[in-house]
Amino acid sequence: APVPPPDLSTCSSASLPDGSPVPFTCCPPLPKDLSNIPTYKLPNVSKVKIRPAAHKVTQEYIAKYSSAIQKMKSLDKDDPLNFMQQANIHCAYCNTGYKELGFPGVPLQVHFSWLFFPFHRWYLYFFERILGSLIDDDTFALPFWNYDSQAGMQMPSLYNVVNSPLYDPNRNQNHYPPNVVDLGFTTIDLDASDQQKINNNLTMMYRQMLTNAPCPQLFFGNPIRGGEQPIRGMGTIENIPHNAVHRWVGNPNNKFRENMGTFYSAARDPIFYAHHANIDRMWTIWKTLGGKRRDFTDRDWLDSAFLFYDENRTLVKVRVEDCINNEKLGYKYEEVPIPWKNFRP
Ligand code: C2O
Repeated sequence: APVPPPDLSTCSSASLPDGSPVPFTCCPPLPKDLSNIPTYKLPNVSKVKIRPAAHKVTQEYIAKYSSAIQKMKSLDKDDPLNFMQQANIHCAYCNTGYKELGFPGVPLQVHFSWLFFPFHRWYLYFFERILGSLIDDDTFALPFWNYDSQAGMQMPSLYNVVNSPLYDPNRNQNHYPPNVVDLGFTTIDLDASDQQKINNNLTMMYRQMLTNAPCPQLFFGNPIRGGEQPIRGMGTIENIPHNAVHRWVGNPNNKFRENMGTFYSAARDPIFYAHHANIDRMWTIWKTLGGKRRDFTDRDWLDSAFLFYDENRTLVKVRVEDCINNEKLGYKYEEVPIPWKNFRP
């Protein structure tokens, strides 16, 4: 069976990694009627938006993006489109606050399985549309943090301006530019030259995208089906670079490396969405790499479902199948060089 959407009526306090409760609620504000949640209909795409590389965007783009995030932060705190409410979506889906509809004993967890890529794609999709609607610009597209290429291997500067709505003080203060990201970061800074770190990163990208991910299960992660307990096994990219970049950005002086270093708080840092746009981009690239590198055809994956508020504040149900083609969702990624393709170890 596919994984059903969450049972919103039983949303409860989420748990921190040590099992204690998250000190605030991550549950979303609910519509009056939960019995009739419509299935989302993809709008017709007239023009495909281009998500730009974060290190290459113009001042004009930064101004637009900042103003959209500022507006989102200024919405009423109980508005489902408010920035904190959007961040709490990640908490609710990842820290056992939700149970699967029809399986009251099964917590939902969208990491560590084949749900990882499609959940985050839908999450960014609505986040991006909400930002676009707040600034009345339906061409607005999120930037991606292009850390798989040398030019993007630092924290993108647009996120590092104190007082900008894109800034978050809860980060590792030693990892601002010119520090080079370590895509395999655990908790200790590498004692290596920038050039060595760059080469390591490209080698890791080759390994995670090619050598270690020749088929869907290795790339996306293991199947999880409705009613099964979560944490089935993650795919290559979810581990490295995804988890590593979360840890690398998070503040090591906080107990769980908040914000980016732990699920419940990660999406409070605006850089989260640029990180995930790049992870999402990896999905689009992986499918072009040949061999058996294609989407699952398993109905249990395709029919698994999630719930989100769209930009009109309508709570909608979305299915994995409707997100596997990013151009049908109305966006693609700016074409930039992909140096790791030639980095066979
Ligand atoms: Cu849902 Cu980057 O984690």
